[in-house]
Amino acid sequence: MRILWCITGAGHFLTDTFKFMKNISEENEIIALFSNAGLEVVRMYGLYDEIENISINVIKERERGYSGDIIVGRLAMKEYDKVLIAPCTANTVAKIVYGIADSLVSNVAAQAIKCNVPVFVLPTDVEREQITEIPLNINSKKCRNCSKCIPMEVCPNYALYRSDKIRVNILKCNACLICIDKCKYNAISFGEKIKIRIRSIDLRNVEKLEGMEGIKVIRKVDDLVSLLI
Ligand SMILES: Cc1cc2nc3c(=O)[nH]c(=O)nc-3n(C[C@H](O)[C@H](O)[C@H](O)COP(=O)(O)O)c2cc1C
Repeated sequence: MRILWCITGAGHFLTDTFKFMKNISEENEIIALFSNAGLEVVRMYGLYDEIENISINVIKERERGYSGDIIVGRLAMKEYDKVLIAPCTANTVAKIVYGIADSLVSNVAAQAIKCNVPVFVLPTDVEREQITEIPLNINSKKCRNCSKCIPMEVCPNYALYRSDKIRVNILKCNACLICIDKCKYNAISFGEKIKIRIRSIDLRNVEKLEGMEGIKVIRKVDDLVSLLI
């Protein structure tokens, strides 16, 4: 099966989705497509290099025109058997639900439905309260703002910088995690679990998405297997 896998800028479900896609990549042809935010967030979670082991081709929103150029034609020509949007941000869910197609992923969803290509969506915002993992974080209460900050010195991407305390520019971080052990006050963490409260509008949008023609909503990573049926 040839699957166009669209990755949006969501941290929730991200690592497990990558594991699932890796598992099915030997039996299926996967083409990865990143939204602009998707590319940023995947790097923050240290997963970008993994994409080479999963997909036969990578498409990036930032390298494409607003219309999605050849992707739309490929959908019409039935080059892909299925489209998977996983994980799918509340932003992209809202766009799809309200018929907006002004980003590459929302455009792919709209065009796939028009071309009768089934679209599977794994939205992140499906429960009122969720535990999610954040990328690299510096605990400002633990940071002592040392005059010589070793983590800052060893970061190959210059992602750490000094402000009121040592801070991280998460857009520069690719989760190499070299810095973590270098802080003797354990101020740096990766994958810390936090509790978040999902907005009502985002929960309602997922319900609306479930009622849309041509779309199958998947509510948990374990159910991604329904993609293969
Ligand atoms: C580290 C990080 C994790 C994020 N995780 C989520 C998420 O799980 N779900 C979500 O709806 N948005 C999440 N966002 C916010 C989206 O990236 C943001 O809304 C972005 O505009 C989505 O664009 P896209 O839908 O075109 O990919 C996250 C942002 C960051 C920086």
